[in-house]
Amino acid sequence: MKSAVITAIGHYAPDRVVSNSHFESYLDTSDEWIITRTGIRERRWQDEGATSDLAVEAARKTLEMRGMSPDEVDCILVSTVTPDMFFPSTAALVQHKLGAKHAWGFDLSAACSGFLFALATGVQFIQCGQHKAVLVIGADKMTAITDFDDRNTAILFGDGGAAVLLEPGDDPAYGVIDWVNYLDGSGSEALHMKAGGSAKPATMETVKRKEHFIYQDGKAVFKVAVVGMADVSLEIMKRNNLASEDVNWLVPHQANMRIIQSTADRMGLPMERVMVNIDRYGNTTAATIPSCLAEYHEDGRLKRGDNVVLASFGAGYTWGGALLRWAI
Ligand code: ACO
Repeated sequence: MKSAVITAIGHYAPDRVVSNSHFESYLDTSDEWIITRTGIRERRWQDEGATSDLAVEAARKTLEMRGMSPDEVDCILVSTVTPDMFFPSTAALVQHKLGAKHAWGFDLSAACSGFLFALATGVQFIQCGQHKAVLVIGADKMTAITDFDDRNTAILFGDGGAAVLLEPGDDPAYGVIDWVNYLDGSGSEALHMKAGGSAKPATMETVKRKEHFIYQDGKAVFKVAVVGMADVSLEIMKRNNLASEDVNWLVPHQANMRIIQSTADRMGLPMERVMVNIDRYGNTTAATIPSCLAEYHEDGRLKRGDNVVLASFGAGYTWGGALLRWAI
């Protein structure tokens, strides 16, 4: 069996930077509350375009880094909870905009664990020998589903996209070494969008009641996220006989700095070995983990041979972990 290796990576953040003071001007909130309770200082908002545009920008950078033409891509997986539209899939729109003439693909919905679920899926296509180039993309335009009058959620989210290219490798010591993912639909009560799907199609009333936005019981999600992210990270370490000193990097989903710190504590990792960019981007849902990887790779802190533990928690509930040995 071939190993599945990340051979290129790219991310894209829209230009518009929105700082916490923006919310202070019209909501009962403060820069101090937001920083202390979440770790977020600013986020990026996409003024024009859709999730597929965030995904395409990230995918283009990824292919450029590898020197690969879009028509060499076999498969495009897009994890998102903010698809451009119900159908066709965002993957189809990305395929067309990118000019990936020979690719098939599909969308995958797992909220903040979307990238890990898509990565595990892409790995299968490489390991079974079916494909030689799979683009795994996490992209979300969270501003499209955020109620900016709700202080509980307005301050948390941002827009962004990130992509990795998976290719077969000959050395099993490098690439995606292990992964584990979980799903528990009983969590849907605490984190969901109330209307717009087949359970409650859009009406004038659903719009008036603001049911097309993110609904989150933050406290309930916080409690399970803290446990879920730490447990799955420890499980990945145990399954692969890794002590904390063997882990070069933890890449946690960027939803809340306090959840990130608590996961690092449980793993016995100092914060110097934890990738963090929530302060600059907020929660970009499926894009947080690959955007961290891309930034730390770009600035040289993430090095070939590093053991990298990825960990996520999100709506569903979904949660998961993965172990990478970085190959680029
Ligand atoms: N500014 C000021 N006060 C606020 C704000 C705000 N922006 N937001 C909430 N508050 C208030 C609340 O109203 C509450 O006031 P009350 O005590 O008078 O009722 C108080 O602050 C405390 O509220 P909590 O909800 O307990 O605040 P908490 O410290 O838990 O922080 C947060 C809220 C940041 C949402 C946190 O609960 C969290 O991060 N939850 C988990 C998020 C997560 O991991 N989501 C999963 C991924 S998202 C996805 O999958 C799409």
